[in-house]
Amino acid sequence: MNRRTVQDYIRTIPDFPHEGIMFRDVTTLFNDPRGFRMAIDLLLHPYAGMDIDRVVGLEARGFILGGAVAHQLAVGFVPIRKKGKLPHDRIEQDYTLEYGTATVEIHTDAIQPGETVLIVDDLLATGGTAEAGIKLIERLGGKVAGCAFVVDLPDLGGRKRLEALGVDVHALCA
Ligand code: PRP
Ligand code: ADE
Repeated sequence: MNRRTVQDYIRTIPDFPHEGIMFRDVTTLFNDPRGFRMAIDLLLHPYAGMDIDRVVGLEARGFILGGAVAHQLAVGFVPIRKKGKLPHDRIEQDYTLEYGTATVEIHTDAIQPGETVLIVDDLLATGGTAEAGIKLIERLGGKVAGCAFVVDLPDLGGRKRLEALGVDVHALCA
């Protein structure tokens, strides 16, 4: 019997991409058919009974997970991308990362006012990326039902930051 947990499929790379960062590499989780399926099933489990209209994935690893979650929930998928990648009308939001700053964008017609949205990403660190995603969705009139992550790094405060915004946070491992 396979008793491996999601955490068992993730490797940690010290000092990537900068000294002092313990990088959680989820490519090994994606690479394993059992691990990947388990992660998708567990990510969507709390939201399966809710009326989710769209899944939003955060670039880049959130696209892989979010696409699979959207498929399982039989709803549409919306990418939130780093600045300069989306071709149509869009709005942008600046944010700070554990190791830098960035801007993300969403197409203005990707979410309709009143729609219920689930955000999916691989990892929650400071919460800056997810907060930017929440702001973009709310600026379009969407309601965020929750944010689902494979990994939560609790020492970096992301969960508290998102919960302070009134958003449900679901993570599979620390
Ligand atoms: C990583 C990760 C999250 C974000 C988490 O993405 O996939 O999206 O950082 O950090 P935060 O909670 O402090 O905002 P990254 O910005 O490295 O982009 P990538 O997936 O395109 O490599
Ligand atoms: N994004 C921000 N911090 C990270 C970490 N420690 N591992 C992987 N992705 C990250």
